[in-house]
Amino acid sequence: MTGEAHGKLLLFGEHAAVYGRPAVGLGLPWRLRLRFLQARDGDETGMATERLRDACRRIGAGVPLAGALEVRSDIPFGVGLGSSAALCVALARAAGAAAASGERKLWGVAHRAEHAFHGSPSGIDTGLALLGGVQRFAPAGSGNVPAARPIAAQRIHLVTGFVSRRGDTAAHVAAVRQRMQARDPAVRAAIDRLGAIVEPACRLLAAPDADRAARLGALADEADALLNGIGVGSPVVAELLAAARAAGATGGKISGGGGGGAFVAFVPDRATGTAVLDAVTERLPAGDGSAAALLAVNETGAEVLGDREWPAPVARRVRLIPTGP
Ligand code: MEV
Repeated sequence: MTGEAHGKLLLFGEHAAVYGRPAVGLGLPWRLRLRFLQARDGDETGMATERLRDACRRIGAGVPLAGALEVRSDIPFGVGLGSSAALCVALARAAGAAAASGERKLWGVAHRAEHAFHGSPSGIDTGLALLGGVQRFAPAGSGNVPAARPIAAQRIHLVTGFVSRRGDTAAHVAAVRQRMQARDPAVRAAIDRLGAIVEPACRLLAAPDADRAARLGALADEADALLNGIGVGSPVVAELLAAARAAGATGGKISGGGGGGAFVAFVPDRATGTAVLDAVTERLPAGDGSAAALLAVNETGAEVLGDREWPAPVARRVRLIPTGP
């Protein structure tokens, strides 16, 4: 009756993955844990938990809907670092979805639950929440979760962080879909290129080349321009990324659904990463709960080397089916 999962950071391919293009990202060391409990007075019952209840219903067997859920998370909520995907994977784990037929089945159950948070998930967020490490995703077609291949990443440093968002992933995915359906050629070309960048990025992540941070940074800058072009950019993140580049980052981009939220910048080494972290921290918007961190990434995943303003872990108890008026 307990489950846990990683946060995630998308490196390349977000939004393109919704249209069957590849993507690459990593599981984060920040995690979400949950357990099912008996309901008691004082459990949250508000509207804010409606999507959570919907996710529980979509999981079905194994979720005690008459009870309550305790969620503890050091993944910040709603900023593009994978809190909802982690919630879905942790729910599927707690409900025992893996017991019968293994991880891919569990991923499928979590993917079904993620539809409660946005209508057309590609499966990459729940894949990273489930598998951790550095993963390349390839489309599997016909509504299935994509195929995941772990990447033996050579050690690389990056600065990540988040600011508050305009809209959520559902809204940004829907807006891009509208422009795709309107056959906007610029958006179609951007989606193609966002997917095409993934292959060279994966080669660079795994290669021992000395200049890979520079080349990954250049790809990140290109992806960021494309993501801004399809309408999911953010002036606040653009300013932070400019500060990161001025302090030595080789390039950077919005990460995830966009409209603010998470970002990532590649840096050539740890010392430069610390300088970039400081420069970004100085420009974090005041009072919106934003934060930043320096990570080292290798084939097993990411390690936090330093963080600034990172929020304290959150614990909530939620009654799954509210009673009374
Ligand atoms: C959100 O983290 C990633 C998107 O590509 C949506 C998805 O793939 O489900 C924007």
